[in-house]
Amino acid sequence: MEKNKPQWSSHLSFIIATVGSAVGLGNIWRFPYIMGKNGGAIFLLTYLLLIAFICIIPLICELAIGKIYRTDTINAFKEINPKFKWLGWLCITTVILIPCFYFVVGGWILNYIWIFISNNLPSDFSSYFTSYSSQIFMPCFLTFVFLIMTASFPYRGVNKGIEKANNIMMPLFALMLIIMAVYALTLPGAKEGLEFMFKPDFSQFSHSMVLTALGQALFTLSIGMGAIITYGSYMKEESHIVKSAYTLIFFDTLIAVIAGVMIFPIVFSFGVTPSAGASLVFIALPEIFTKLPCASFVGLIFFILLFFAAITSGISILETAISAFINNFKISRQKATVLLSIIVAVVSIPATLSFGILDGIKIADKTIFDLLDYVTSNILLPFNTLLICLLSGWCIQSLWKKIFGDNLFGYIFNIILKFIVPIILICVLIAGL
Ligand code: PFF
Repeated sequence: MEKNKPQWSSHLSFIIATVGSAVGLGNIWRFPYIMGKNGGAIFLLTYLLLIAFICIIPLICELAIGKIYRTDTINAFKEINPKFKWLGWLCITTVILIPCFYFVVGGWILNYIWIFISNNLPSDFSSYFTSYSSQIFMPCFLTFVFLIMTASFPYRGVNKGIEKANNIMMPLFALMLIIMAVYALTLPGAKEGLEFMFKPDFSQFSHSMVLTALGQALFTLSIGMGAIITYGSYMKEESHIVKSAYTLIFFDTLIAVIAGVMIFPIVFSFGVTPSAGASLVFIALPEIFTKLPCASFVGLIFFILLFFAAITSGISILETAISAFINNFKISRQKATVLLSIIVAVVSIPATLSFGILDGIKIADKTIFDLLDYVTSNILLPFNTLLICLLSGWCIQSLWKKIFGDNLFGYIFNIILKFIVPIILICVLIAGL
């Protein structure tokens, strides 16, 4: 147990860190390719509706649980009711599985930063990426480097490590993103790219698309695994739960949309299909960058931007498990960080190798990497979120009054939390699966 419960030094630092957690590879790498695969604008519309009307509810609940109980995810559930301690463990298991594929992508980013810095650009990124990601040593090594870099921040503590990293990296990230998006809008495919993003084709609607949109919405807001509970537990007393939740949703969605505005015009300008999948950012985009003036500079800015997004989210992923380890195993922050890093390193090896020697191992037609992504985002996150909503609505006495006070807003929130969100989550889960 940490002697003094850490606390953000200001409300602004809390918001920056939470936005840093939410804005990550989910926004820049995952969102555009999933949107590309799921019909573009219709996916965006579904995603926005889910965020505005459904995901805001568990987001508020997680922040409230963090602020009220001021402890890690496992103990928070135990305090709500000792019978639900297992739900805390389920969230922590989820949050440990995520970096096992997320940090593999972090390793790829480091490699791309290097090739753009050294200006040693391959002539064909498609064969380069396939041959690089199928190697044994280098991808594993860079996954570990990314892991160590990320873990070094929570290792130093909440204020000296996590807060400082976010306060420096997030403004730089925002600046680079805006520069890149403005640049992309000057390209000839800008109109087509924007149409793909904003003109819905309703024939593309499907149940599995709704489940994917929900998984993406929860993933991008870091809901359903205790990250928001953990960051909420460091909140200052004067920070307002509902206003903070709306600020977080606003910035996360804005950044995902700007990322699309940056990526789709580039993609359409060069006739690449936006449904290229996970490799969009690592094959199609760098291929295009090499055709632009100042190729190395544009590519470098893009991959540094991606690096900042990935590391600030990675920090919150690790911190969620670290705070649980500190309290439940009664070990120091440093020991907890090392223990967690070893677990993540071991599990991420098969995920990294699933692009090479282990690509033949498939479960439900998915490689280990894809399976980790699918199981966490499309099954565990909606399932955990459902349980968090049920617990908040039915087991915490008058949570709504604690958040809103005894007024109409609180009353409406309570009905939505207890009945509407759980029913919708169950339907989406059943229909999508
Ligand atoms: N929200 C992050 C993203 O969009 O990339 C991912 C993430 C962060 C997942 C924190 C889980 C978590 F605990």
